[in-house]
Amino acid sequence: MEWRELEQTCRECRACELCRTRHNVVLEAGNREAVVMFIGEGPGEQEDLQGIPFVGPAGKLLDDMLSIIDMDRSSCYIANIVKCRPPRNRDPLETEQEACISYLWNQIALVQPKIIVCLGRIAAKKLIREDFRITREHGMWVEQEGIWRMAIYHPSALLRDVTKRPETFVDLLSLRDKMRQLGIV
Ligand code: URA
Repeated sequence: MEWRELEQTCRECRACELCRTRHNVVLEAGNREAVVMFIGEGPGEQEDLQGIPFVGPAGKLLDDMLSIIDMDRSSCYIANIVKCRPPRNRDPLETEQEACISYLWNQIALVQPKIIVCLGRIAAKKLIREDFRITREHGMWVEQEGIWRMAIYHPSALLRDVTKRPETFVDLLSLRDKMRQLGIV
């Protein structure tokens, strides 16, 4: 689907139970022409209310993380595995992820990023490897289908546990290095 059709299909989607409790479908933020794509898990309360990914507390931290490597929302594209808020911010169920994932494949096909950064375990399992272990494998690069991929801790995890932040700083520098290697900056 092209963008307009994808937007409309998502807005009207009733493929899983999350449609019953959502206020908004949360499709994307950032730049559709970007070469770096960040993928989170699913909308939280603020995202659901505003219809924009990463606008709550985790989003504020994500903006700070981007600024460390001289990026902002205009230099990347941001999406989630599921587009509707799971109640009480629980992990999206496998059935909900399966119902929603083709929209993300569609987004990736349209954006054609050179780099995908998974924010947290749930995205890494879908985009890198089903048995991905975030504590052991964050910051490690793999190239699949012509796209360089790595995972970093989810900003919500970094809000809960500040001791993980230095490792994430290193991972962000590695992202900047990869962008340089690929001639993106
Ligand atoms: N957490 C996510 O994974 N995605 C959002 O959009 C917001 C919080």
